[in-house]
Amino acid sequence: MEKKCYVVVLVAFFLIVSSCMVAPSHGKKQTEALGHLYEIKMKGSHVLNKSPFKAIHHINKSRIHGQEEMKEKDRIPKLPGQPHVRFSQYGGYVTVDKKAGRALYYYFVEAHHSKESLPLLLWLNGGPGCSSLAYGAMEEIGPFRVHSNGKTVYRNRYSWNHAANVLFLESPAGVGFSYSNTTSDYDKSGDSKTAVDNYVFLINWLERFPEYKERDFYISGESYAGHYVPQLAHTILLHNKKANTTLINLKGIIIGNAVINDETDVKGMYDFFKSHALISDETAYRISKYCNLESENNMDAESSTECKAATDEVNRDTYNIDIYNIYAPLCHDSSLRVQPKEPSVVNFDPCSDNYVYAYLNRADVQEAIHADVTKLDHGWEPCSNIITTWGDSPSTVIPLLRELMANRLRVWIFSGDIDGRIPVTSTKYSIQKMNLPIKTKWHPWYLDGEVGGYTQVYKGDLTLATVRGAGHQVPSYQPKRALSLIKHFLAGTPLPDTSRYI
Ligand SMILES: *[C@@H]1O[C@H](CO)[C@@H](O)[C@H](O)[C@H]1NC(C)=O
Ligand SMILES: *[C@@H]1O[C@H](CO)[C@@H](O)[C@H](O)[C@H]1NC(C)=O
Ligand SMILES: *[C@@H]1O[C@H](CO)[C@@H](O)[C@H](O)[C@H]1NC(C)=O
Repeated sequence: MEKKCYVVVLVAFFLIVSSCMVAPSHGKKQTEALGHLYEIKMKGSHVLNKSPFKAIHHINKSRIHGQEEMKEKDRIPKLPGQPHVRFSQYGGYVTVDKKAGRALYYYFVEAHHSKESLPLLLWLNGGPGCSSLAYGAMEEIGPFRVHSNGKTVYRNRYSWNHAANVLFLESPAGVGFSYSNTTSDYDKSGDSKTAVDNYVFLINWLERFPEYKERDFYISGESYAGHYVPQLAHTILLHNKKANTTLINLKGIIIGNAVINDETDVKGMYDFFKSHALISDETAYRISKYCNLESENNMDAESSTECKAATDEVNRDTYNIDIYNIYAPLCHDSSLRVQPKEPSVVNFDPCSDNYVYAYLNRADVQEAIHADVTKLDHGWEPCSNIITTWGDSPSTVIPLLRELMANRLRVWIFSGDIDGRIPVTSTKYSIQKMNLPIKTKWHPWYLDGEVGGYTQVYKGDLTLATVRGAGHQVPSYQPKRALSLIKHFLAGTPLPDTSRYI
């Protein structure tokens, strides 16, 4: 155990250093939050509980509130600097614990068309501690992207609200605009509390938007949401069973470049570095020999020294690249433009974090989206600076994935194939661990006469799909392929094994 964590923390360290180079202007980024968790994981198991996830059985009724007339108050007629659109947007707070004064911020965009029949899709970002508004809504799957002036927004024509009514949630409290008046809550953050607050949020939100109560519901997310998504799904199933009724009509989950299983996640990362010529074969060999990633045993002194030397080497080799998309350009000039650059949804701007940061910290934007109504003592950050500890994070979520499959939910796992952080190798190793029989063997899937990626379907209904040329934030880098992927997922149709439809 020591050994594994030791390796991981070195990785975490270099991620922090390299991301500081990339974006010097403000607080923590998604690219370092995961490293931060591993740092906590490393501090010792007495701090962090890694045992299997257990949902909270009893939810105090006092946490469920009437939501009459709250929906219309949440309507956002228009975001500042927004082009005209026909779909509706809402934003606001849902109290998840009145006594503590804890409330989660959401942003909801209805579908472009057929909102009455299209499903409801929740999107969660990871971290832990990163905002779904920052990444999901403003840089990945939302209807708008922020111009380089930090003031106005433009349309994302590959927005997922072409396929669903999309709900973004900033979770847990302490992330983005979500907060608790009992600030000690921040120190109690962890997977379990996140799952229960997310669940309480959903139950209340559905009271506010009752037309979605019986709608087919799906949960999506990326990175550390590989934990949040199955944990929330598990919680929903448990409470549906307890109530002997479908409180939430959950149909499936989809997770991308997801944290699934610590051991295979870490091994897959080094294998990816090696196979993509980021580190030498010799360094990779020393990592596998001395760092002993698969064993929970303590390292001896020699191994420890050798392992550190090897991971230092990895650190140096990957220091100047964006490990979350190994071929992406870096952000060299993060300043805002008075005259915005010509925007492009298909060529992702590596300085986007800075534009979103500026936009969401504007008073007119916060007012328009009904955010920060209590005037928090901290600004909006894409990844939380105030959540500094994490209490529980199971070493694997595979048992939860199995449970969801056993309950006939649709489970898809996708992977941008040029992410080095939770790369496709990690994802494949994690799925291998599940030992599932193959239903449809590996084949390319197509979009516009091109290979969009590769897919393999397993019995019990688990689909693995890679997205070719995408980094960690798949919809940022391959928006059109990502939209195609989510359409197939929601429709329950296999990804096309032929290009004849172009
Ligand atoms: C439920 O919450 C209320 C108000 O916070 C509290 O008074 C009560 O003791 C709680 N009940 C249980 C069973 O925890
Ligand atoms: C938190 O405190 C502020 C200020 O007292 C109050 O306006 C707000 O409603 C509280 N939040 C919750 C969720 O109770
Ligand atoms: C659950 O609901 C079904 C149908 O609504 C009913 O037949 C069954 O008896 C219920 N089970 C329990 C344990 O209440």
